[in-house]
Amino acid sequence: MKKRKIAIVSDHAGFYLKEKLLNYLIKDKYEVKDFGCPSDEIVDYPDFGHPLANAIASGEFEIGISICGTGNGMNMTVNKHPGIRSALCWSEEISRLARAHNDANICAIPGRFVSESEAYLMVKTFLETSFEGGRHKRRIDKIPLKIY
Ligand code: RB5
Repeated sequence: MKKRKIAIVSDHAGFYLKEKLLNYLIKDKYEVKDFGCPSDEIVDYPDFGHPLANAIASGEFEIGISICGTGNGMNMTVNKHPGIRSALCWSEEISRLARAHNDANICAIPGRFVSESEAYLMVKTFLETSFEGGRHKRRIDKIPLKIY
């Protein structure tokens, strides 16, 4: 079976959790590209978040996982890209609903506020949940800015 293509990124605050999740996902037979950062040395999250967002928006990767301290910096950065729907996830149920109702394509994780096992569960659920469509499709179609 063809491996699903996943992209993962963090800043220094999410570095160690990123390394753990990357290993779990590879074991789970996903094809995972690491968009950095490469160590726990201090960096600026937009420098790493924008390249990941480009790779999801272009269709090169199906789903992205981003991690920073609060999850917010990465979330705000990637949501500037047309075609990106990044959801800040802090529980398994939020993560499930982000896929089922919002068709989110990036899972933003607050690395300083969730445990490794909580993060892994959220990511697994995010990857395994399908968009429900229907009324939710009508709603997500209204998210992009239009010139009125
Ligand atoms: C880094 O200290 C922290 O500001 C960053 O990881 C993130 O939480 C920003 O939103």
